[in-house]
Amino acid sequence: MRIHGTCKKLIKDDKIARLLSYTSLPNLAMDAISELFPPPAHRGKSTPLILAPMAGVTDAPFRSLALRYGAHLAFSEMVASQAMIRHTPKSLKIASALGPEPVLAVQIAGSDPAVMAEAARMNEGRGARIIDINMGCPVKKICNNGGGAALLKDESRAAAIVAAVARAVNIPVTVKIRLGWDHAHQNGRTIARLAEQNGARMVTVHGRTRADMYHGKADWAAIAAIKQALTIPVVGNGDITDPHSAQEMLAITGVDGIMIGRGALGKPWIFSQVASFLAHGTIPPPPDLNARLTLVLEHFHAMIHHLGPVGGNRTARKHLAWHTHGLIDGARFRDAINRSPDPQSTATMIQTFFHNQPEFRAL
Ligand SMILES: Cc1cc2nc3c(=O)[nH]c(=O)nc-3n(C[C@H](O)[C@H](O)[C@H](O)COP(=O)(O)O)c2cc1C
Repeated sequence: MRIHGTCKKLIKDDKIARLLSYTSLPNLAMDAISELFPPPAHRGKSTPLILAPMAGVTDAPFRSLALRYGAHLAFSEMVASQAMIRHTPKSLKIASALGPEPVLAVQIAGSDPAVMAEAARMNEGRGARIIDINMGCPVKKICNNGGGAALLKDESRAAAIVAAVARAVNIPVTVKIRLGWDHAHQNGRTIARLAEQNGARMVTVHGRTRADMYHGKADWAAIAAIKQALTIPVVGNGDITDPHSAQEMLAITGVDGIMIGRGALGKPWIFSQVASFLAHGTIPPPPDLNARLTLVLEHFHAMIHHLGPVGGNRTARKHLAWHTHGLIDGARFRDAINRSPDPQSTATMIQTFFHNQPEFRAL
């Protein structure tokens, strides 16, 4: 990878190595889904915790952060299958890891079974260990082409895609769905069963319909009904924001694992807090500001390393906004980094901002 001169200094290999030093991961060596979901008798108290796929967010650096702070598995941003088979640089980047990611789980989107199968095969060849099929994206651009949540309206196509992808690869295939297209058409259970019958090894259910977009509250009771209908592991998703909501969702739905999206933005330690609460009933405190500064800088360096100085500096803006949410003078900091010309300046601004927090000075 070519690295801009001024940012070479920023890329400290030890920082990247530290970001990649996952401590709490199970050994998902062979079949990641079997190992994540052992038979109930061997599961103990540990509930699999999964970082949700989020376009523009769950790139390799953020996945590494979540894995380091206790997520057992982290899904990539969705990658368009058509773009993938054309080898566009953007799609290849989305589907790549930062380093030896324990289980590279790539989510693919599209509506043509043959193209989806080819994209899955390509990802397997590039090191993916799980392929997830997107049947939930509500965005018009995706749905108008028959992909994402539009597949919920076309059950035979949805089934054909799962079958084609499962046939094409030797790694587990999983599917992420919503409850249905809208409240009048909630066929999530049918779609989930079709996925299971056609070779899916795990289904994640986001408890909203496509019409809900991200509004209202996720319907956990509807997730429970889908869980009841399947024998493969079902993962519950939607509105888990802290250890208590994680516990409540588990109690209501009986799901085998939980997936967290927005609740992890700027607070990747949510995974270790949830794990501790579910296992022992205690919630470890979040890292202090000193530790947070270290993690923010590591995350920032990883973004520059992964996306280059221009792309990394730009992508870092939204993550830095989440990382500094609720801190003093955050609005002014966010305004300043949005205009920061290069990674060096941004790194200096991050350090100054954290050092100026009263809590930091008291440490
Ligand atoms: C910015 C953003 C991007 C998302 N991108 C994807 C995606 O690429 N694929 C997908 O299946 N879901 C995507 N989602 C949906 C999330 O995976 C998840 O289902 C949803 O946010 C509900 O979970 P949460 O309440 O824990 O955030 C996205 C959500 C957000 C907020």
